[in-house]
Amino acid sequence: MKKLTVVAATLGALALPSAFAAQAPSLTVHVDQPTAKVSPMLYGLMTEEINYSYDGGIYAELVRDRAIGHGFGALSHWAMVARGNAQVNVSGDDATGPSGALTRSLKVSVTAATAAAPAGVENDGYWGIAVRPNTVYSGSFYAKTDSSGVPVTISLQNDETGVVAATATVNGLTGEWKQYTYTLKTGDVPVSKNNHLILTIPRPATVWLNLVSLFPPTYHNRVHGNRIDLMEKLAAMHPRFLRLPGGNYLEGDHIADHFDWKKTIGPWVDRPTHPSPWGYRSSDGMGLLEYLEWCEDLKIEPVLAVYAGYSLMQEHVDPGPALEPYVQDALDEIEYVTGSTDTRWGAERAKDGHPAPFPLHYVEIGNEDEFDRSGSYDGRFAQFYRAIRQHYPGLQLIATTPVKSVTPDVLDEHFYMPAEQSFHEAHHYDHHPRNGPKIFVGEWATREGDPTPNLEAALGDAAWMTGLERNSDLIIMASYAPLFVNVNPGGMQWATDLIGYDTLTSYGSPSYWAQVMFGAHLGTEVVQTDLADAGLRIYASVTRNAAHRKLFVKVVNATSVAQPIAIDLEGAGKVGAQASLTTLSGKTPNATNSITDPRVVVPVQYPVTIAGPKFTETFVPYSINVLDLSY
Ligand code: AHR
Repeated sequence: MKKLTVVAATLGALALPSAFAAQAPSLTVHVDQPTAKVSPMLYGLMTEEINYSYDGGIYAELVRDRAIGHGFGALSHWAMVARGNAQVNVSGDDATGPSGALTRSLKVSVTAATAAAPAGVENDGYWGIAVRPNTVYSGSFYAKTDSSGVPVTISLQNDETGVVAATATVNGLTGEWKQYTYTLKTGDVPVSKNNHLILTIPRPATVWLNLVSLFPPTYHNRVHGNRIDLMEKLAAMHPRFLRLPGGNYLEGDHIADHFDWKKTIGPWVDRPTHPSPWGYRSSDGMGLLEYLEWCEDLKIEPVLAVYAGYSLMQEHVDPGPALEPYVQDALDEIEYVTGSTDTRWGAERAKDGHPAPFPLHYVEIGNEDEFDRSGSYDGRFAQFYRAIRQHYPGLQLIATTPVKSVTPDVLDEHFYMPAEQSFHEAHHYDHHPRNGPKIFVGEWATREGDPTPNLEAALGDAAWMTGLERNSDLIIMASYAPLFVNVNPGGMQWATDLIGYDTLTSYGSPSYWAQVMFGAHLGTEVVQTDLADAGLRIYASVTRNAAHRKLFVKVVNATSVAQPIAIDLEGAGKVGAQASLTTLSGKTPNATNSITDPRVVVPVQYPVTIAGPKFTETFVPYSINVLDLSY
């Protein structure tokens, strides 16, 4: 994480000479003077496994620790179930597992049980399992037994009421590891989130289990796909790309723990899972192909970050022969994403169920390599750059910090800022030289409020985004980070995250809504704008879509009073009388949304009548506004 030095606050009106302060703010928009093209990929998404973003987040799996984890806290989500006089012991068994990748299993030894008093094991999901009425859930597990034919009954049971919402029985277990599938269909049950998944047997026997899984319906009905509510929230942001798979998650704490994409593809049983730097083990259910299908479902493209030989605990691979296998992995990865089915890795992708290649234009080499104190990035970047350029000359290559030996196409810059700083940094790129690499602001956020940002943060974000838009000839892409947080206790590793959720519902923070508003009104060209802000915390950017004769005027009023702003649309000719104003505001900067109160700060759209090219619009206190006009 890069932190900029906090600079002095913008002067408030009280600090200004009274004659100046008395002037009302005004905004002159030179509608006929485009200054730059808006990057069509300006707004996108940045993602990684943090704050239970995938497991317990967008990846819709309901069973926690399905691959029977190793290390601290292993098996803490699996508990014994014994009805009546039944007896059972549950343990991790390192002696048997379903594959070479998963060499461990959950051993369920039942010593006393009957059909009326069965015994087995239960899973508590990610802070509960959501159950909805009249819903079909698809499940599977790997198992073997010492008592062939022992039936396994699977049910979803409410912790508070004891009501079983759905049940199914799987027969045919043998002494060999095999995968079984089952379906749970709920009837007219209430919506609830405090449920367990329970697997029991009706007689004494030992059953070994692994990859116990249960999925609700998913976005676009993808098998093992993503949560519908979270995907819908992302779609509403109108993103153009997904930066994946990190962030620190790409790098891992140690070289051995980096995101090793080849271990995240194919059947789950061939995915060994891996420790993430954010304190828990990743199931790798969200593997490379799942990321790409996520992009496909949102009709966006990946910005693929490849591991570049640096991990967070100051471990690095020296440029030269030692780095070659990592460079080859990156080339293979690009081939997996883009190659036709007659390439080795394109064929592998087809085998995994996706013959069609994915679009790819941007590849990022590493993540935040300025933290590599060995100074090896210049050499590592150059080695990756040359190899990728040779094989894929059309790709744009992104460096994570400035390098000297070659010139990157794009530089990724990160900003995590308090609101005070975001307001100031709204002008960060206004005078930035245009003769170097393009800029990708691959991570940024105004950090006020947790687990999700409050209105003050959203005001800072919106001020900052006016700067991104004004300079979108230079800033070709930008993505807020982190995107997600599971709001349950222990779910958050990083405060101030765009979208919060539990197992049942989700909500957008005020910052999320600011992104929705900006993303929905991107425009194609920046137009020359003169804002006389009277020294107040007022920010603006204006874009147009000439083909549709649309003008998008974004105004941020971060002051505590309503601001009438005289707007002059110079060169617009005729202006449509009917316009709309979308406003996001709240009573105080601390106003926020939460899982229990998700709609305190949400955008409201009003019709407005525009008198002509010169008019005054009043923007309410603490507000982010988009005026959508025709000209
Ligand atoms: O967004 C959280 C973390 O911040 C990312 O993983 C890392 O790239 C940055 O330091």
